Amino acid sequence: MSELVLENVSYAYKGSDRKAVNNVSVHFEESKVNAVIGPSGSGKTTLLSIMAGLDSPTEGDALIDGERLSGMDLDQYRREKVSMIFQAFHLFPLLTVIENVCFPMELNGVEKEAAIERAKIYLQSVGITEEKHKRYPGNLSGGEQQRVAIARTLASGARVILADEPTSNLDKANGQNIVDILKSLAHDQGYCVIIVTHDPAVAEQADHVWKMDDGVLRAE
Ligand SMILES: Nc1ncnc2c1ncn2[C@@H]1O[C@H](COP(=O)(O)OP(=O)(O)O)[C@@H](O)[C@H]1O
Ligand SMILES: [Mg+2]
Repeated sequence: MSELVLENVSYAYKGSDRKAVNNVSVHFEESKVNAVIGPSGSGKTTLLSIMAGLDSPTEGDALIDGERLSGMDLDQYRREKVSMIFQAFHLFPLLTVIENVCFPMELNGVEKEAAIERAKIYLQSVGITEEKHKRYPGNLSGGEQQRVAIARTLASGARVILADEPTSNLDKANGQNIVDILKSLAHDQGYCVIIVTHDPAVAEQADHVWKMDDGVLRAE
């Protein structure tokens, strides 16, 4: 199972009486690509950081596969249950491609040889060929870096993928390639994919589109 539910979640930043996220209830199902759209400042990133376990709601709760985040070890939640993909890729620049993908597995106690074998499979699944495995991220194109970032996400074992503007630094073809990979992860492998995006071409390919407006989330 891999579903994320928010129940009446609100969030106000310290010192602010305004709710950046205002009473959001939503069910993000497994095997679906969900897009969250909305103007700048509407609360999308705040919502993502709550789902990522980086911030706790000031009211309400989030549940992963029926389990409340408020009762969980959030470090473990972030390590095992959710994985983030960022606009700026966020690969480790001093680690090679394969070392980047091995990193979360080593964090989770997977033995080095086994991690390398699995990393190769994940890299193959996102179309990164073997001759690129020993390169540093700086020597890859943006599209390739994002695909490595997705391979690293898969290596974490997390079944919920949170993506913040994952295509916005990419050209059209590379952006579509990333969307195709995320769609296949949801539809063929049961991942729950949640993408924050400004890009209508991404949103129109999602199974569900949600619009954030002044902290409030509505189905489109
Ligand atoms: N660290 C912070 N402290 C105070 N207010 C913040 C902080 N981060 C964001 N905000 C405010 O919360 C609201 C939602 O921001 P954000 O979630 O970043 O929106 P979006 O990602 O949709 O652009 C905005 O009004 C923003 O100014
Ligand atoms: Mg944002």
